Amino acid sequence: KKVVLAYSGGLDTSVILRWLQDHYRCEVVTFTADLGQGEELEPARAKAEMMGVKQIFIEDLQEEFVRDFVFPMFRANTLYEGSYLLGTSIARPLIAKRLIEIAQLVGADAVAHGATGKGNDQVRFELSCYALNPHIKVIAPWREWDLDSREKLIEYAEARQIPIPRGKRGEPPYSTDANLLHISYEGKALEDPWVEPDEEMFTRTVSPELAPDKPTYVEIGFERGDAVSVDGERLSPAQLLRRLNDLAGANGVGRLDLVENRFVGMKSRGVYETPGGTVLLAAHRAIESITLDRGAAHLKDELMPRYAELIYNGFWFAPEREMLQALIDRSQENVTGTVRLKLYKGSVQVVGRKSPCTLYSHAFATFEKDTVYNQRDAEGFIRLNALRLRIGALAKELAEK
Ligand code: ARG
Ligand code: SIN
Repeated sequence: KKVVLAYSGGLDTSVILRWLQDHYRCEVVTFTADLGQGEELEPARAKAEMMGVKQIFIEDLQEEFVRDFVFPMFRANTLYEGSYLLGTSIARPLIAKRLIEIAQLVGADAVAHGATGKGNDQVRFELSCYALNPHIKVIAPWREWDLDSREKLIEYAEARQIPIPRGKRGEPPYSTDANLLHISYEGKALEDPWVEPDEEMFTRTVSPELAPDKPTYVEIGFERGDAVSVDGERLSPAQLLRRLNDLAGANGVGRLDLVENRFVGMKSRGVYETPGGTVLLAAHRAIESITLDRGAAHLKDELMPRYAELIYNGFWFAPEREMLQALIDRSQENVTGTVRLKLYKGSVQVVGRKSPCTLYSHAFATFEKDTVYNQRDAEGFIRLNALRLRIGALAKELAEK
């Protein structure tokens, strides 16, 4: 019997590793993904080796993450509950996909993850796993074991010579999750939704108050709905997001503090830093503003909250998400061009947009004298649109008499 564990190398998943060996008496294979979280992954290898793991998978998935998950999501201008850019939600299906592929490769019949029984992540991992392999067994130790406090976890680790990170003997200040798109903070001091987060908490953005007094201009090039260049330089998807993270982070762009509705039912306060993503969303909306037909744009805007909820709730590999994706992708055929933005002390402003496929017509839009548009046409247009309003008003008048 073998199980593939999504292993970060941190204390929690190290305890899970040993617990699986002890409790299930099975061989554990570890999988550690580099999604651009900005942590060294070699220590995870050393720790896994030390705990007797024979098959260790450490993979750089940054390009696949941005190209096949982040970018498709951004084509829809996706926001959950009006503001969350889904930085954690969109990474889970990719991790699940690799877990299942590795399980197949090494002949494992189970996978395991370190998400708790109270959150969204367990749902996302497991829905994705079952969609990709209906026979897979999923082990979620947090829902099974009795190590329900930090002390018990550390006791367990000490008794079994599991290395405990130095200086982290106390509880870590927040629950965080990081990748190239974002870093999240939850729990501890943040559990009081009235309390403003500590400035020291933030790692990817300078405080807007301390950001430079001079704005930074940036030009983002798009082809068929995806960003392909920054300031004229063609970049791979992961390189591009990294570049935008740097530019936006230095200008204090991308902080978000919200209370969100988790799929399992409770409200939860989260703070996020999504610098590059925040710029990318503004830029994508701007390029769509000149390249998308109104009907197409409004339809995808109507469907977006539904699409966002599917991703938040873990239904990336569900047929309805794929159907919506097909519709969204089809809308992007002419979403090509360049957007110019200004980053300044926490704000991002669109200041220019141009496209070879532009639908913006100066001839039609101008306030100057024009020859293409007959203003008299508007009279009938308005009269017919007003028809039912007038009939309604007339009926009301009659009733009141
Ligand atoms: N609340 C966010 C979400 O559900 C972030 C979750 C962060 N996950 C974590 N393991 N710390 O997408
Ligand atoms: C967790 O419970 O593992 C993190 C929070 C979440 O999944 O929403």
